[in-house]
Amino acid sequence: MAKNKSVKKAGEVTNLSSHEREHWGSKLGLILAMAGNAIGLGNFWRFPYQAAKNGGGAFMIPYFAALLFMGIPLLIIEWSMGRYGGRYGYGTIGPMVYLQAKEGTTKKVALFLGSLAGAFALLIVVLLNSYYNHIIGWTLGYAWLTATGGYMDPSVDTGAYFVNYIQSPWLVFTFWLITLAILWYIARGGVQKGLERLAKIAMPSIYIFALILLIRALTLGTPVKTEWTPIKGLDFLWSPRWDELNWSATLAAAGQIFFTLSLGMGIIQNYASYLKDEDDIVTSAVATASLNEFAEVIFAGTIVIPIAFTFLGPDGLKSGVGLSFIALPNVFRSMVGGSIVGTFWFLLLFFAGITSSIAMFNYLVAFLEEQFNIDRKKGSTLIFALYVIAGLPVALEPILTKTSELLYLTELDNWVGSYLLVLLGLIEIITAVWLFKEKGLEEVNKGSYWKIPRWFYSIVMKLITPAFIVILLVFSTVEYARNGYLKLVPDFAKNYPNLIPWVFAARAVMVFLFVLCFITIYNALKNMQVDRAGEK
Ligand code: TRP
Repeated sequence: MAKNKSVKKAGEVTNLSSHEREHWGSKLGLILAMAGNAIGLGNFWRFPYQAAKNGGGAFMIPYFAALLFMGIPLLIIEWSMGRYGGRYGYGTIGPMVYLQAKEGTTKKVALFLGSLAGAFALLIVVLLNSYYNHIIGWTLGYAWLTATGGYMDPSVDTGAYFVNYIQSPWLVFTFWLITLAILWYIARGGVQKGLERLAKIAMPSIYIFALILLIRALTLGTPVKTEWTPIKGLDFLWSPRWDELNWSATLAAAGQIFFTLSLGMGIIQNYASYLKDEDDIVTSAVATASLNEFAEVIFAGTIVIPIAFTFLGPDGLKSGVGLSFIALPNVFRSMVGGSIVGTFWFLLLFFAGITSSIAMFNYLVAFLEEQFNIDRKKGSTLIFALYVIAGLPVALEPILTKTSELLYLTELDNWVGSYLLVLLGLIEIITAVWLFKEKGLEEVNKGSYWKIPRWFYSIVMKLITPAFIVILLVFSTVEYARNGYLKLVPDFAKNYPNLIPWVFAARAVMVFLFVLCFITIYNALKNMQVDRAGEK
């Protein structure tokens, strides 16, 4: 082939990553780590308020449809893309997308797609995690405050208490830096001694905490009003109300599936890149998705929703983002054993957050390893520093401006934490299914106990899943326009003129980082020496 006429030799390993790649130590460790990656604040914090806000039972219908036809198929594709990349020494998705896309399109287009995907993923793992780490810090802070009785006095307004928390430099910085230090320590340990060991401790803890909370939630009785029973709370989530089924609930549900399964972030691929060549993909991906859904729908649904309903009634469920940090603390102090229940709740959130955040941390460590040959220990320290810098504006906005509106965070979350995921998911599936062609199915089934039949692959992976993602993307864009996110001054910032610079800062950071990452990855891919080891 003309493009291969240069000095490249087939079988030569690429120049970017000469180091030995680590592998997962055991199947159990792998599944727990992948489940830890997926099970995060999204499950316990985001899901309940999304479901509550979007009609409960009306939300669950598109939710399950999106899980089956979009979430799980894309998850399987991400696993296989990751294992494929790992075979050639890569743990980040720039090279992965490039290598697969090259099979079905010109080198130029593949380069572009690879750089785009790689840059999007970096944007996500740097910026999304920059504020996620703060939320994890809050959960640790709140675990501490709950255990030590911080807001237990009934005269304390838990809303004002939360605002005071995020405006207090001591609290915010202490718990945030502890969180980052823990992440740093784990990342230094590597795959087996870091990620896997963490998962083996944190995941059982999450399930035990959740079980205790679940039992408490269902035995609350009717402390406030006789018609507010925990079971009525469950009813809210589980009775389909077809008439409430609308587009915005559907979009929210599909978006939640993306978020909760950690899709379109690059981090599933990164974890899968430490698989061995013959490791099972289909069964493992389905197993981790099941663990995630169990934690989300069964645990989070049966803990948060009934607790909130029993004490606050139907209106309490509408408290949105404030459900965990404002409404629930209010409930804990009026509940028998509330300080213990509350502490468990925040520790549960903390563990869930850490096991997800570490996946993004590790992605960046892998990026430094393969791109700049920086070893893991040094890389972990650099990423620690990067997260301190990236997280500063998030911390400083409420502290400096003495407001409780987190507009810098909101703007980042609207783009990086919601929109980009879907866009990246689309690039991935186009690459892995359409460009990689027949090899895609082969890759998925290699080593798998359950084989995906060809007809299923052709109908679901090739058509339904991409169609789902395209629809989600188009309607999200329409919704963004409608919500005024696309304006110079977005609608949510209109009433806070002094905070508008924070919105602009968020945009500047996103654009700057995107350009920087795109160029870096583009150059690296262009210089990649070998096309595919052992081929041609
Ligand atoms: N699935 C994760 C969750 O439900 C999402 C996630 C993974 C994530 N890693 C993350 C979100 C890092 C923010 C930061 O929470």
